Amino acid sequence: MTRQELISAAFAAREKAYTPYSHFKVGAALLAKDGRVFTGCNIENATFTPTNCAERTALFKAVSEGVTEFAMIAVVGSKEGERNTLVTSPCGVCRQALYEFCGPEMPVLMAKSEDDFVEMTLGELLPLGFGPANLG
Ligand code: THU
Repeated sequence: MTRQELISAAFAAREKAYTPYSHFKVGAALLAKDGRVFTGCNIENATFTPTNCAERTALFKAVSEGVTEFAMIAVVGSKEGERNTLVTSPCGVCRQALYEFCGPEMPVLMAKSEDDFVEMTLGELLPLGFGPANLG
């Protein structure tokens, strides 16, 4: 699975985004260490707070299937019907949710297209993250 293929999977997942309120559609593709790819989209709610980001949708799908070891994640987002001018980076809640399972070395691809993306590690996005190791 190349970086470009993972980004393509994120774009495909974005098509399913349920965003009647923000009209901002996000897709994520999470590559497990066993080679499987779990995709997710953002799912909004009329009461706003229960909205789930694309990254957590992908993560929770994977964990609920018994998969907890991951190699990389790709995230894409833009307003409905528009091309991205900025990369979409995971929100703070998603950074923390990913940190539980992924650790600081995991690459996070924040993409405008298959060939135009910013790559950072999860540890760069969440310095000194608090994870399972902190609880001993
Ligand atoms: N959103 C995501 O799904 N992932 C991100 O990384 C940033 C924000 C969603 C949440 C909400 O549905 C919409 O984008 C606008 O914030």
